[in-house]
Amino acid sequence: MVRPGAKIFLVAGARPNFMKIAPILDQLRKRAQFRPILIHTGQHYDDVMSRAFFRDLDLLSPDVNLGVGSGSQAQQTGRIMQEFERVVVKRPPDLVMVVGDVNSTVACSLVAAKRHIPVAHVEAGLRSFDRRMPEEINRVLTDAISDYLFTSCSDADENLLREGVPGEKIFFVGNVMIDSLLKFREKSKSSTIMENLSLRRREYVLMTLHRPSNVDEPKILRGILRAVGQIQQRMPVVFPIHPRSRKMLQKFGLEKEIAGVSNLRVIDPMGYIDFLRLMDQARLVLTDSGGIQEETTVLGIPCLTLRENTERPITVREGTNRVVGTDPQRIIRETEAILEGQPVRPRKPKFWDGRAAARIVDILSKTMNFPQAPEKRRRR
Ligand code: UD1
Repeated sequence: MVRPGAKIFLVAGARPNFMKIAPILDQLRKRAQFRPILIHTGQHYDDVMSRAFFRDLDLLSPDVNLGVGSGSQAQQTGRIMQEFERVVVKRPPDLVMVVGDVNSTVACSLVAAKRHIPVAHVEAGLRSFDRRMPEEINRVLTDAISDYLFTSCSDADENLLREGVPGEKIFFVGNVMIDSLLKFREKSKSSTIMENLSLRRREYVLMTLHRPSNVDEPKILRGILRAVGQIQQRMPVVFPIHPRSRKMLQKFGLEKEIAGVSNLRVIDPMGYIDFLRLMDQARLVLTDSGGIQEETTVLGIPCLTLRENTERPITVREGTNRVVGTDPQRIIRETEAILEGQPVRPRKPKFWDGRAAARIVDILSKTMNFPQAPEKRRRR
């Protein structure tokens, strides 16, 4: 039997989306007013980039998989739009909900907005003010056409207001990624990843790299690897490598070079639970990811962001993050300072408390029109 209620298309496509949609889906499923339908665009498709996260986050398989795969920015975005439109035409939803800043986010919101379907953007308003990042374009465009802008910090609200978004569309709800982190932190203690990799608590550095501005640029990538070459002489560096970065290392002939560095452990990407455990036990995290800046803030683990800017300044102001750029000497200096320094004492940003998804669904529940909602009909 088809469940009644407002039909919500919840869109996920790439690795950092899955831990954001999991708590929202949970909340939507608990309430009879809503009929959530999970749409996977297929932007990420490898087991370690996608299915592993469904298993770890206790997510059921997607209701629809668009299977678009990789391609250039335009190819990927265009394919997602075409495939998503087909589904929207066949089974029109009452709301399309997108998360984060990946190509799937902007592609699906564009399709929905043009068909006059309300769009909700979770993690709205973040800005790096760097339009060379594909994600920044995705964020700005998605926010411009969204009807609900759910934000995770107050500077996101300020960014949106400055861009002319009416205040009544903006809802400060907190951080859904942290909902998942808090829910699964306990479970991650049963991970055997530390033993599998023979690592000891606080005695290794964890690194992730995948931004095109770092890994597609041979000079920058070489520089970061030079810095890591030094750091690993002092403490092992564990580097679960993103497929994009592995491809680039091969392309620039750097794979053999790093294979010879004894304390640099280049390993395959891993699922959510194992990675959470590795973050939680690390002495320090080096990264160019957005989400990891937030997760290390809540875990209280020092984080050096290897980028020139961040769309998440709250992790610097209130958390454990420092944005240090990609100059090898600076990376080495900042790392040394952390390895020699005192443990950091972060504050947890407001509403990064495990209840963000519940707030989102409460707001939808109060503000959406429910033409076929059984509860409402009964009450009348
Ligand atoms: C995408 C997001 C980025 C996010 C990142 C997390 C955009 C513009 N970028 O970047 O914001 O931080 O995901 O991972 O949406 N590949 C595989 N297997 C996969 C997926 C990708 O091998 O399952 C390889 C392909 O060779 C592909 C490359 O990785 O060409 C890049 O994938 P793509 O989805 O284009 O971008 P990401 O770098 O993953």
